[in-house]
Amino acid sequence: MSADTVDYGLLDRQLAALLDSRDWLTNSAQTCAFIMQALPHLNWVGFYLQRTPEMLALGPFQGKPACHPIPFSKGVCGAAARKQVTQRIDDVHSVADHIACDSASRAELVVPIVNDGQLWGVLDIDSPLEARFSHEDQTGIEALIETFKRQTDLPLWKP
Ligand code: SME
Repeated sequence: MSADTVDYGLLDRQLAALLDSRDWLTNSAQTCAFIMQALPHLNWVGFYLQRTPEMLALGPFQGKPACHPIPFSKGVCGAAARKQVTQRIDDVHSVADHIACDSASRAELVVPIVNDGQLWGVLDIDSPLEARFSHEDQTGIEALIETFKRQTDLPLWKP
């Protein structure tokens, strides 16, 4: 294992032990702080939550103050929310409707959090390094989100 290789299995066990509440606010705050500390070369980690129709509201995060709100129709987070599919972007400058909260960000990974087919929110991770997120990072971070979901009561927004 090289110095920069992340042991996602170990991180998953550590996150599972850290999340000792079922409260979504506590667990989402802990999860983004944990990821920010555990992974190198990140400049922002946080949650956007569905609170109104077709709109994401800024939730717990680590990093600089960020954009709020984000419509489903726009940006990388909007695409993840709309399609309910992880978005892994090597260079956000290549995404025409990317929402630039911090000009330092280059790579982005956004994982949708879906509960019983309904979107609860997304986890958004930004890096200043181009192509920061590999396929292995994507599957490792998706596994962390599965652990977050399994150990958290996620109240769904009701129209
Ligand atoms: N870049 C995102 C917006 C959120 S910030 O990166 C924190 C997007 O295009 O959806």
